[in-house]
Amino acid sequence: MKKIIEVKKLTKDYGKVRALNKFSFEVKEGEIFGLLGPNGSGKTTAINSILGLLKITKGEIKIFGKNMSPDAYDIKKDIGVVLQEVAVFDELTVYENIDYFCGLYITDNAKRKELIAEALEIVGLEKYQKFYPPKLSGGLKRRLNIACGIAHKPKLLFLDEPTVAVDPQSRNNILESIKELNKNGTTIVYTTHYMEEVEFLCNRVLIIDNGKSVAEGTIEQLKNMIDIGEKVDVEFINIDEKQIKKIKELKNVKEVIVNDNLVTIYFAKKNQNMVNLLELIKQEKLETITVNLQTPTLNDVFLEITGRELRD
Ligand SMILES: Nc1ncnc2c1ncn2[C@@H]1O[C@H](COP(=O)(O)OP(=O)(O)OP(=O)(O)O)[C@@H](O)[C@H]1O
Ligand SMILES: [Mg+2]
Repeated sequence: MKKIIEVKKLTKDYGKVRALNKFSFEVKEGEIFGLLGPNGSGKTTAINSILGLLKITKGEIKIFGKNMSPDAYDIKKDIGVVLQEVAVFDELTVYENIDYFCGLYITDNAKRKELIAEALEIVGLEKYQKFYPPKLSGGLKRRLNIACGIAHKPKLLFLDEPTVAVDPQSRNNILESIKELNKNGTTIVYTTHYMEEVEFLCNRVLIIDNGKSVAEGTIEQLKNMIDIGEKVDVEFINIDEKQIKKIKELKNVKEVIVNDNLVTIYFAKKNQNMVNLLELIKQEKLETITVNLQTPTLNDVFLEITGRELRD
């Protein structure tokens, strides 16, 4: 598959702060590539460096096989951007803002009208077309920011935490639409600190921490890097010490936390764990109120690798 982005040993210093340290990755045509990392890990610096909006300290950046530079307009014309900081014109209406940004790429008026209507629908701003941004709530403004970046259906699209402060329903619409854009041929780079978004959207993910890549792969590959299996919460009507001991002695159990009748069991990543547990529950004639099974998340991966939580 064609390489769309090649970043090699990218280093970016802000004065004494090293925000990116020999950061490298590649994005192939047709991917939704996720950059997942906590606040301050360097996601925005990476995006803005790649786009030529920041002067880099060292490294090499190629887009569509060509060297990226601040004035590489032939490259930029095929790129769409939704920056983390909302960047729209307060003196233009919602419609006029989208029209302006779309007009930078699409000169055919009828075509542009169609695209604007589609963008308005994707972000659910049809009712707000005539509003000026200062009259929009934070979440609505973010949705306008997204519409401005995606309306022209670019070949390559960068989205930097686009759904922060957006309500869950609009967020789902936006995520679905990003998938749809991708199906229609747009390669996407998506930064977020929400692992759920990455799990829903991305074919491949890079986990970034302190300006460095700590892990990269498909979601399955990332989860396979760690030896954590299921986490099971079981609420019993009643359980005694002996029975808890039997749970602890089950195969592959790594840890058991007991809170009265609520028992949390952490398994190593092996087959048959749930079967063994349910068998024991039956044997002991234990009665349960709830059994809640959780499989490992990207947060567990992050925790295992860095010793910290992804979430702040
Ligand atoms: N203009 C700047 N001047 C100095 N330091 C900066 C500047 N911008 C970012 N930094 C620092 O660089 C590091 C990376 O910041 P960056 O904004 O790239 O992180 P991020 O992953 O996008 O975080 P967030 O999730 O909060 O958006 C942080 O330590 C930050 O404080
Ligand atoms: Mg950021």
